[in-house]
Amino acid sequence: MKTHTLLMPLDAHLHLRDGVMLENIAPLSAYSFSGAIVMPNLVPPVSSLVDIRAYKKRIMATVPNDYFEPYMTLFYENYDKNFLESVADEIIAIKLYPAGITTNSEGGVSSFDIAEMRPTLEAMSELQIPLCVHGETDGFVMDREAEFMSIYELLASNFPNLKIIMEHITTKEAVDMLDRFDNLYASITVHHLLLTLDDVVGGMMMPHNFCKPIAKRPEDLDALLSIALEAHPKVMFGSDSAPHPQEKKESCGCAAGVFTAPIALQLLCEIFEQYDKLDNLQAFVSDNAQSIYGLCPEFKEVILEKRAFSIPQKYSNVVPMYAGETINWAIQSVE
Ligand code: DOR
Ligand code: ZN
Repeated sequence: MKTHTLLMPLDAHLHLRDGVMLENIAPLSAYSFSGAIVMPNLVPPVSSLVDIRAYKKRIMATVPNDYFEPYMTLFYENYDKNFLESVADEIIAIKLYPAGITTNSEGGVSSFDIAEMRPTLEAMSELQIPLCVHGETDGFVMDREAEFMSIYELLASNFPNLKIIMEHITTKEAVDMLDRFDNLYASITVHHLLLTLDDVVGGMMMPHNFCKPIAKRPEDLDALLSIALEAHPKVMFGSDSAPHPQEKKESCGCAAGVFTAPIALQLLCEIFEQYDKLDNLQAFVSDNAQSIYGLCPEFKEVILEKRAFSIPQKYSNVVPMYAGETINWAIQSVE
């Protein structure tokens, strides 16, 4: 049987939520990933040292038997340097959301006024705290990411020593941006390597494929594949796996988020094999994130095998992407 081994897989962008959802969902990532960068968009957001420590503890309590490192993030506000010094050792990055642009982002940034942001972003540069960004404007939904490129340009040029991660990129404009500034990096989800807008609303509406940023055009998908399959060193896998209860997805006012955490590695094997690029998958799912963030995850070996795997209809009350469909790769063992 054909197998493929991945060492220390990392998820550079993960939503774990809280409470019962956290208890149900976190073990699924902890099973096959060595660690994940955990998003801070709780209600209220993770925005103090107390919040970070308490949330990390709650996450760890759900995965007592697995080695799994939650790399914590803070919800961006214009923090002062003293505060940043006090949290620097306990976070991997700070996540910036434009206000109201996606789930639980109401307290985000409402104007990108560089003068106002400068003290925070300079302190982050000095303390070497990377800035992760949800890069969308409030424009027309298909143009939001492309329109945000001027803001990335402003941030990257004003703060050349700040590592800026363009999160879950979906467009060729973002791909082109990557090599224009040394300090820009990107994460890419697995669903954005598979879906276009057609898979969301081209036929019957598919709520479980609906997320922010929305999947774009075939040429955008091709651009994303071109850098992911080559494991461009400034690009890393970040699932943006974003669980919502089934009733919040299959409803009028469907919540944004695609749930992929338990099937991400299997889908990635399928994609990389299809393009004969399996040899590059290790860099995409772990090595690049290790270099970009300076991570040293403990040893974990995930062996995947090529066999039919039927994706469950649900994990607790969350419907995964491709529920009920059969894919060609499955997890054989994890050590
Ligand atoms: O689709 C999304 N869901 N995009 C995000 O940026 C947030 C996420 C969530 O938290 O549900
Ligand atoms: Zn996200």
